[in-house]
Amino acid sequence: MTETMTAVEITAPGGPDVLRATTRPVPEPGAGEVLIRLAWAGVNRPDALQRAGMYAPPPGASDLPGLEGAGEIVAVGAGVSDWSVGDHVCALLPGGGYAQYVTTPAAHCLPVPAGMDLREAACLPETFFTVWSNVFGRGALRGGERFLVHGGSSGIGTTAIQLAHAFGARVFATAGSAEKCAVCERLGAERAINYREEDFVEVLKAEGGADLILDMVGGDYLPRNVKALADDGRLVQIAFLQGPKVELNFAQVMMRRLTITGSTLRPQSDLVKAHIAEGLRTHVWPLIEAGRVAPVMDSEFPLEQAAAAHQRMESSAHVGKIVLRVA
Ligand SMILES: NC(=O)c1ccc[n+]([C@@H]2O[C@H](COP(=O)([O-])OP(=O)(O)OC[C@H]3O[C@@H](n4cnc5c(N)ncnc54)[C@H](OP(=O)(O)O)[C@@H]3O)[C@@H](O)[C@H]2O)c1
Repeated sequence: MTETMTAVEITAPGGPDVLRATTRPVPEPGAGEVLIRLAWAGVNRPDALQRAGMYAPPPGASDLPGLEGAGEIVAVGAGVSDWSVGDHVCALLPGGGYAQYVTTPAAHCLPVPAGMDLREAACLPETFFTVWSNVFGRGALRGGERFLVHGGSSGIGTTAIQLAHAFGARVFATAGSAEKCAVCERLGAERAINYREEDFVEVLKAEGGADLILDMVGGDYLPRNVKALADDGRLVQIAFLQGPKVELNFAQVMMRRLTITGSTLRPQSDLVKAHIAEGLRTHVWPLIEAGRVAPVMDSEFPLEQAAAAHQRMESSAHVGKIVLRVA
């Protein structure tokens, strides 16, 4: 097998133009890991944060960006018995996805769903792991509950709307244009709220309040989310696009028995991620294979044009997922 590969690296913290194609050694799978020859790699907002110097890779992870991809297993490390050379998989990656080859724990791979191509499969792991663990794990969403997701047209948002709808929740979503709101409603939101024209707090309060909110915006959304929650409601924070610092009256949390929590996926242990993968395989992969849930595809770029992919993502013009063609 070839010893070197094409990859895209972050040459210095900065804007999209710091992403450059380079040549790197092909990594070797350690014990419990597989080596994947990637066909496609998904692009996620955390990649842009890493590129800007605001989201360092965890210890031991590749310095190359890229948290998900799909392709063929070409080597397995010691102790791997559940996957074989030649298997087609999609995988959550600790980093290193902007490259022709990547290693990841075998337990973080999932089969390419029947009927799905590698391009779409590459876009599943990061958002599905994040939504499954935060909305259904940490947030404990149940059928019949009112669920509000901000950034409804994002990779995360389009996944959260579809999964919450498929599991019987009443879904509300915010987005920044009429077109994006239309996509949210097509995916299963009973009401999309154009946040430039309407106040999501008023809309949710008129419905009795949200039982669960998934938020990536932060800033002044924090006190507004608290107002929009029903008694005993839960707020799960997964990012702070408008900043993490704000003044908040916690008496509301006490008086109305609210729960405020959150998480980031990447620094969590391999074991936690393996459990999330198991949950997805059991509960979500059948929905994908039945055609009830699918990634919303925005656009594709060749690996070498990762900078253009980041520009598109940071313009927020996209709806759903952006993907890099690696092979
Ligand atoms: N905690 C975790 O484990 C985890 C994992 C993956 C992703 N994330 C986070 O989840 C978020 C979504 O990720 P993604 O990859 O799906 O990103 P994405 O597709 O780029 O979506 C971000 C969306 O947020 C909206 N937005 C951007 N800036 C905003 C602002 N200042 N105020 C309000 N809305 C804003 C935009 O939609 P509009 O045009 O409608 O404003 C945009 O489409 C990111 O913040 C990412 O860092 C967290």
